[in-house]
Amino acid sequence: MNATMDVLVSLSKRRGFVFQSSEIYGGTGSCWDYGPLGVELKNNIKRVWWRDFVQARADMVGIDASILMHSTVWKASGHLDHFTDPMVDCRECKHRFRADHVNDLPWTHHCPATKGNKFTIPPGEPCGHCGQRRTLCPECGKGELTAPRQFNLMFKTFMGPVEEDAAVTYLRPETAQAMFVNFDNVLQSMRLKLPFGVAQAGRSFRNEITPGNFIFRTREFEQMEIEYFVNPHDRVDGRPADEYWHDRWIGDCMAWFQRYGLRDENLRLREHDKDELAHYAKRTVDIEYKFPIGWSELMGIANRTDFDLKQHSKWSGKSLTYFDEERKEHVVPYVVEPAAGVDRALLAFMADAYREEEVRGEKRVVLRFHPELAPLKVAVLPLLKKREDIVRVAQTIRADLARQWRVVYDDTAAIGRLYRRQDEVGTPYCVTVDVQTVGDAERGETGDQRVTIRERDSMEQIRVPVAELAAVFRELLGGVTWADLAPRYPPVRS
Ligand code: GAP
Repeated sequence: MNATMDVLVSLSKRRGFVFQSSEIYGGTGSCWDYGPLGVELKNNIKRVWWRDFVQARADMVGIDASILMHSTVWKASGHLDHFTDPMVDCRECKHRFRADHVNDLPWTHHCPATKGNKFTIPPGEPCGHCGQRRTLCPECGKGELTAPRQFNLMFKTFMGPVEEDAAVTYLRPETAQAMFVNFDNVLQSMRLKLPFGVAQAGRSFRNEITPGNFIFRTREFEQMEIEYFVNPHDRVDGRPADEYWHDRWIGDCMAWFQRYGLRDENLRLREHDKDELAHYAKRTVDIEYKFPIGWSELMGIANRTDFDLKQHSKWSGKSLTYFDEERKEHVVPYVVEPAAGVDRALLAFMADAYREEEVRGEKRVVLRFHPELAPLKVAVLPLLKKREDIVRVAQTIRADLARQWRVVYDDTAAIGRLYRRQDEVGTPYCVTVDVQTVGDAERGETGDQRVTIRERDSMEQIRVPVAELAAVFRELLGGVTWADLAPRYPPVRS
C-alpha cells in the first residue's frame, strides 16, 4: 500500500519524526519541527549527500555561508525583481491564493438550485446541480477575488537596531547565491581547475503564498545545492561542456535517489518548457517523485549559464573569471546547478519506505529505510528485563555499539511488541539478549555468549557471538547485504 499524507503525518508525530511547529499555541501552517528520529534521518540524508557528492569527489569542495547576505546580492541575482508569485485575495474572507493555483483547488459552492446548500466540488468541475463553474473564492464560496498582484517571496528583515530602508536585508531564498559570490575566494584558496563544484547544505526561506502538504512546501526549509562550474569553451565527448555536465548531473542525481531506496516507478524526469524556465536558465530538468499528493518536484537541475557570475561581477565591480591557461584567456564559467530540498527528500524517502504487511494474521507497519538513512541502526532488547545479568549484557552491548552508531536500548514491552516498534521507525537490526546468552550462574551454566540479530525486512534471525557484534555491524552497515552475511551464522527458527 502506498502511504497517504495523513498516514505519514500521523506516524511522524506518534514516533517522533516531525511535529507541528509551536503546536501548543495552535501551530503554524507552514513550519514543522523535526523530532528525535526526524533529526537523525535528516542528518543522515545530508551526511550521505555530502559524502557522495563532496567528500568522495576530487572535483568538489563545500562551503557553509551565512543566511543573511548583502542586500545587493538579491538585486544582482534577480530575486528582488523576479522572485515573485502572482496572488489573489478574497474580498470577503481575506484568504490568499496563488493565482496560478486557484483552479487546482476544490471549491466551496452555495448552490442556487438547492436553496443555497453548500457543496465542496472537485477542482475544475462544475456543480452537478446547477452546472455553474467557480467564479468566487474557493474557500468561502462567497467573496470575489482581487485581480492578480505580484508578491515577492523573500522574507524582509533589518540588519542592526534601526528599522530604516538602508538597513533592509533578506533571509536567503536559496543557498546558491553564496557559491557565486564566493566563487573567487574558493577558486583562489583551493587552487581549483575547471570543471569543479561548490556544495552547500543549509536553510532557505520563502514566504510561500500557499505552503502546505506537510513538509513538501514550507516557508523555512533546507536545501542541498551544488554549483558546478565548467569552461564554456571546452567540449566533452564532442558536446559543449555545460551540456555534457548537465546530463551527467541529471544521471548522477537520479542514481543517488535510487541508490538510497526510491523505487524506479516513483521517479521520473521532467523537462521544463521554454516558457517556464527561470530567468537565468538555459535548460532545467526536474527529478519528480510520486509523492502522496501526486507527481511533484523533488529536485531541479538547471544550466544557469554564466548569468550569475556576470551579474555579481557587474553589481560588485569585481572580476569573477577563470584564467584558462591553455587558451591564455579569462573566461566566465558556465554553471550547472543540482538543487535538492532536504525536507522533500526526507518526505520521499519516508513515503517510499512505508509498507503495511500482514505477518501471521497481524498488520505490521515497516519503514524499509536504506540502512545508511535509518535514524536508528540497532535496537538492543533484553528478553527478560527482570534478569539483572541479561540487562547488564544488553546495556553493555548498547554502550559499546553506540560509540559508532545510533543505538537504543528498550525493555518497555514484550519482545514481539518491541520488534514491531522498531519496524515502524525503520531500525534495520535488533539484537536480543536472552537466557541462552548469559546461562544460569546458580547452576554453573556460563551461557553461549551469543545474541540474536533480527533483520527488519526478512525478519530472519541469526545467532552471533557478542564479541563479533561490532565487526558484524561494520559489515552490515557498511554495505554488505544480509543475504551475504547471514549464512555465516546459525539461523534461529522463530
Ligand atoms: N537554487 C535553485 C533553487 O533554489 P528551486 O527549484 O527553487 O531551485 C530547489 O529549489 C529545491 O528546493 C526544490 O526542488 C525543492 O526540493 C526545495 N524547495 C524549494 N522550495 C521549497 C519549499 N517552499 N519548501 C520545501 N522545499 C522547497
